[in-house]
Amino acid sequence: MDQILKDIEQKSLGILLKNRRQTEGFQYTVPSPQTYPYQWLWDSCFHAIILSHFNPEDAKKELLALISRQFENGMIPHMIYWQKGDVINLNWGRDGTSSITQPPMLAYAVWEIFKKDHDKKFLEAMYPHLYHFYNYLLMDRDPRKNHLIGIINPDESGEDNSPRFDILLGLPPKHTLDENTKKRYELIDKNIACNFDAPFCMKNLFWAKDVPFNAIFVENLRVLVLIAEQLGLKDDALNFQQQQLEVTKAMREKMFEDGLFWSTYGEDYKKIKVVTWAIFAPLFAKILSQEEAVDLVNNHLLNPKEFWCKFPVPTVAINESSFDPEGFWRGPAWIAVNWFIFKGLLNYGLAEPAEKIMQTSISLITQSGFREQFNPLNGKGLGADDFTWGTLIIDMIKSFENREI
Ligand code: GLC
Repeated sequence: MDQILKDIEQKSLGILLKNRRQTEGFQYTVPSPQTYPYQWLWDSCFHAIILSHFNPEDAKKELLALISRQFENGMIPHMIYWQKGDVINLNWGRDGTSSITQPPMLAYAVWEIFKKDHDKKFLEAMYPHLYHFYNYLLMDRDPRKNHLIGIINPDESGEDNSPRFDILLGLPPKHTLDENTKKRYELIDKNIACNFDAPFCMKNLFWAKDVPFNAIFVENLRVLVLIAEQLGLKDDALNFQQQQLEVTKAMREKMFEDGLFWSTYGEDYKKIKVVTWAIFAPLFAKILSQEEAVDLVNNHLLNPKEFWCKFPVPTVAINESSFDPEGFWRGPAWIAVNWFIFKGLLNYGLAEPAEKIMQTSISLITQSGFREQFNPLNGKGLGADDFTWGTLIIDMIKSFENREI
């Protein structure tokens, strides 16, 4: 076993190095050289988390590149093109970056680096950017002060064609990726027409309050409190703590029903009752009680009819009509999703299922390589090659070894 782990570590570091790029004095890592040759927001946060174990300086560079393209209003774009090529060559209404964001993992990644090297100067350099980014989400993405953060395009969730968004796009549970992409591109054109004015876009075009995005936001607010405290900013710490409580409370009030958190949409917070891995995302932010977490895991995660197949965790429950084991975000297992669930399980001391997810993630990588996604029923590798998310296994192994018992 030790040899397998050493091998994964070596290969992971090899991929992170192979995919590393330097442009305009900035350093960043592309998720996959052929398929995703630019910088992505949450991908770079994952890279920084992994790199923090080996070389915090490279981890910092990854994040400094991200914030270098922060918008005036505080938003951090989900893509920085650096050098635009033929792949995903879209018009986002401005040069060099997209005009939408992605799940806000930035504070978490910053804190993971700080935990390793205690470099306060780096915290000081990042803090104003974090402050503006999270405040942008609180202001512009929650214009009615209901304490849930909205997204204006499915791609902001990081799960581009997830069936959670079908109803908002007017699509049936079964449709092709092309049909889905067409709808999302049409939405981008409409977003451009209103200049990506988020409150306007949400009111008139697309307004989802997604469970993983909000759970990730809550966990990142928790970390922001620690960062502000570390910098002696007591008022900011108190403020972020208050926001963390408010969003958690709103998630319970508006999303929770029969033991599950559901993404919602529109002005009246209609619940989107499609069972996807999103039901486990609140574990990552410790939003559930111990009893609720145990029930959730027993009834759903460990349920072979829903998620407990040969290579968990499928992104969509197997018994959903939209489930497709090879349908991009409509069924395949993705290592970052496994990482979120794994971390969530450790939050509740549920080491057994966490270990199983770690082991199957390792098997997927050793059998099928560093692919983008995997058929959860037979482990077949799908999508991009040399994809960096598989390297998150290193963080799983280290977190498992150092878990509180
Ligand atoms: C895909 C994924 C998105 C990711 C990007 C780069 O678009 O859906 O989550 O950030 O690829 O890896």
